[in-house]
Amino acid sequence: MSISAKIVGVGACVPQKMVDNHMLEAIMDTSDEWIVKRTGIRERRLVTEETNTEMAISAAKQAMDHADVSPDDIGIIVGCTITSDFATPSLASLVQKGIGCGMAAAMDVAAGCTGFIYALATITSMMDTLGVDTGLLVAAENLSCRMNWEDRATCILFGDGAGAVVVKRSEENHIKHPFLRAIPDTDDVLFIKNKRNDNPWSAAQANDDISLTMKGQDVFVFAVDAMEKSIKHLEAAMGDTKIDKIVPHQANNRIIQFAANSTHFDKDQFYVNVDKYANTSSATIPIALKEAHDSGWLKKGDEVALVGFGAGLTYGGIVVKWAI
Ligand code: COA
Repeated sequence: MSISAKIVGVGACVPQKMVDNHMLEAIMDTSDEWIVKRTGIRERRLVTEETNTEMAISAAKQAMDHADVSPDDIGIIVGCTITSDFATPSLASLVQKGIGCGMAAAMDVAAGCTGFIYALATITSMMDTLGVDTGLLVAAENLSCRMNWEDRATCILFGDGAGAVVVKRSEENHIKHPFLRAIPDTDDVLFIKNKRNDNPWSAAQANDDISLTMKGQDVFVFAVDAMEKSIKHLEAAMGDTKIDKIVPHQANNRIIQFAANSTHFDKDQFYVNVDKYANTSSATIPIALKEAHDSGWLKKGDEVALVGFGAGLTYGGIVVKWAI
């Protein structure tokens, strides 16, 4: 499938509060050395004052400024989050209100840490279906509120933040070959439960564990395989046109290294900023796009593969010809 659209603006917002590995050493039995060796993560940003919605709106406004579009140009907003401040309305509706957009379609997509890739495929398809010229895609995550801070193998991996892109329909095809896959998580290796219904007649306990639960080694094995499959699928779909760069989901530097080893790509062709922000779930890729664009690492005309994996178990990728 080919979609005639392109990314014309990027934005990102992370919380002010930086928590480095040494600050974690002060509250749990861990070390900077252990975390860096196993993951490449050195620090992360954690919400102290900001809300998920505020970060999303800030990232959205930046992306709109970058694209030079006004709120009323936007015909569809797609939100992407697993940690919204609200069960309803959707993050997209909260962003619509925050940016002052009077009329647009507004909906969320949830696919764990693969969310941005699923949502980019969704927004471009919906723009075609609805005949909309300009779309806004915002991913925002506040995962630190769902951590068990006594589970040292998990809580050290995640951070908070938001990223956004503006998408416009275009003559040339810049958003290509969406590859969306999911396999059932039969061993429950990665999930966050919501509070069960504890109405006065329910048997549910009020103290259910609603923190992120993960079997790290199983997720690692899945992630490495998912990255390899996604990259190889996108390469085959591109035929004679080569992929120049890869912006992967930022979960763990070792997973990215394994992906480089199992494909013929150099590690330098992968954008990596997991050292600064850790895993911000669906927001890692748009935050990375913003940084990679601003630093000049991404250049106009680059064929860039976005690849990711996450709870579900979902995985996949999409190719973006960089247009800004
Ligand atoms: N600091 C110090 N030691 C720690 C620790 C920490 N933060 N977390 C765990 N350990 C200890 C364990 O208790 C264990 O000790 P033991 O051998 O005495 O029992 C030892 O380190 C090894 O633990 P293990 O779980 O085998 O480590 P690992 O090499 O598998 O690394 C992860 C753990 C989580 C870093 C790794 O499995 C991983 O990155 N998985 C993928 C997770 C992911 O990306 N999730 C998001 C998907 S979107």
